[in-house]
Amino acid sequence: MCGIVGYVGPGSSLDVLLSGLKRLEYRGYDSAGISVIDQEKGLQTRKRAGKLKVLVDDLALSPLPDTHIGIGHTRWATHGAPNDINAHPHLGGEHLKLSLIHNGIIENFSELKKELIDFGVKFSSETDSEVAAHLVAREYETVNDLTQAFRNVVRRLQGAFTLLCIHEDYEDLILAARRNSPLVIGLGVGENFLGSDVAAFVEFTKKAVAVGQDQIVELRADSVRITSFEGAEIIPETFEVSWDASAASKGGWPSFMAKEIADQPQAVGDTLMGRLSSDGSVKLSEFSGLSSLTEMNRIIIIACGTAAYAGEVAKYAIEKWAKIPVSVELAHEFRYRDPVLDSQTLVLAISQSGETMDTLMAVRHAKELGAKVLSICNTQGATLARESDATIYTHAGPEVAVASTKAFTAQLTAGFLVALALASMRKSMGAVELRELGLELLKLPRHVKEVLESVERMRFLGKRLSGAKSILFLGRNVGYPIALEGALKLKELAYIHAEGFAAGELKHGPIALIEQGQAVIVVVPSPKGNHSLHPKVISNIQEIKARGAVVIAIAEKEDRLVAESADEVFEIAPTNPIMSAVLAVIPLQIFAMELANAKGLDVDQPRNLAKSVTVE
Ligand code: M6R
Repeated sequence: MCGIVGYVGPGSSLDVLLSGLKRLEYRGYDSAGISVIDQEKGLQTRKRAGKLKVLVDDLALSPLPDTHIGIGHTRWATHGAPNDINAHPHLGGEHLKLSLIHNGIIENFSELKKELIDFGVKFSSETDSEVAAHLVAREYETVNDLTQAFRNVVRRLQGAFTLLCIHEDYEDLILAARRNSPLVIGLGVGENFLGSDVAAFVEFTKKAVAVGQDQIVELRADSVRITSFEGAEIIPETFEVSWDASAASKGGWPSFMAKEIADQPQAVGDTLMGRLSSDGSVKLSEFSGLSSLTEMNRIIIIACGTAAYAGEVAKYAIEKWAKIPVSVELAHEFRYRDPVLDSQTLVLAISQSGETMDTLMAVRHAKELGAKVLSICNTQGATLARESDATIYTHAGPEVAVASTKAFTAQLTAGFLVALALASMRKSMGAVELRELGLELLKLPRHVKEVLESVERMRFLGKRLSGAKSILFLGRNVGYPIALEGALKLKELAYIHAEGFAAGELKHGPIALIEQGQAVIVVVPSPKGNHSLHPKVISNIQEIKARGAVVIAIAEKEDRLVAESADEVFEIAPTNPIMSAVLAVIPLQIFAMELANAKGLDVDQPRNLAKSVTVE
């Protein structure tokens, strides 16, 4: 959580910092602040509680000098309430000449704070971050070299941190350090950038360097030096950002979420591109990073939130097509028990951001136990990709809205590709059958487009149910994780109680929740692909309707039995039953977005959330 941006160069630091913060605001929006160094006025700082707009309006009323160096921060509060004082940057030193921003949690801040208080340092905020600002300022007074002071301090910090620091005495230097939190450098011509991710600077440069664990960056307009915390030189490895700057703007849509839902045919299509030939054969060149794939005897999928639901769907595909046993684990649960795994276990980590701390910690733990790690990730230069043995990038483009939509359908698509590639490699299915599945997968972008063209009724239902206190979701087979995802979307966007259930579980308890008028959304399996499940779900619909439920069904086109039993039916194109998950989730995304819109809520930045959960 928290977004950080830094700029040094001939351009306007205010413009770069504010546009970078706008693109990073999805990471946290409790407060925002910037510091710049002006040749005459020295260090200048402005910070405000609330969304970035509050800071922008404040700067419009009372501008800061436009300078050529600065740092900016958008906060998701951990230590201390979201107010002006706890907002970053934090200043350090007797004359407050040093400014510092922080993403992460400094775990040993209490003892460090006590040490500083004993020295007579006065704190203004309740944050852990201010400790780092005062420590660097004090150390600088002693060693008289800012880089050395910064290095000495970061080596004392424990926990997770990306720190950016500037000092009035150094008008051309930004210092940065990274441990367990993300940091990327943007390389310009005569100017350089820092950001929590490439979205911070993609408008200005596409040449980037991902900063590694426990490294320090000395950034000047015309040079970049990277060293380890101990001082060893690191040769930077540059990469080209494939995202287009316009992809991270709303482009005329009322919200990023609306745009990202509409982006899905392209997100799915781009994820397939170059991996699935027109004859239906799948080739994942990424597998070459995993030498012993054929010897793997099981797969553990690790992820959180929506990405974990993508993992649940991937499990159905991998087990059915590649015949490898799969378990899906929430990363934070997996990490803190004693999982049994070895060198024949493949861990498949799924993460849009590639920076989710729970997932990263679980991956590190799995590697320590000897497992190989394959990841599905949407963000170039992300820590997860750097720490995996191989990575399959979903090409969904930047996802800005906090609620995941296009990244989810791209993750599902990548999961299908992994399952088919494994099946082909292990010869668990005949070549013809495999290619038929590949051909069906090729049709997905078109089917997604068709779903998006027919969602009007779902929009209407979202608006109509905006007064509901609770909405339930049911599904079976891949419909179950889709029901869970539908409920999660509704909770995070509309702040109403929503729960997803496996339809078969109804009679084991949840049916007691059904009363007159209870809205239930049912994801119905295909009647053709799931001969045995379809009638069972139809019976579930009858059972809840008999008890007063209002049923909205997501079902395959021309499913007569559903049309006879549900109150409303949203139809999706017939496709492979596992792949149908991609189509079934779209009406649920639209439903949640419209319901939240009808309640007047901010669908891009729901309360209490941040897109990238970079603390455990
Ligand atoms: O970046 P990640 O995919 O690792 O994020 C995982 C979850 O935090 C994320 O999917 C979260 O559940 C979304 N807000 C759901 O819309």
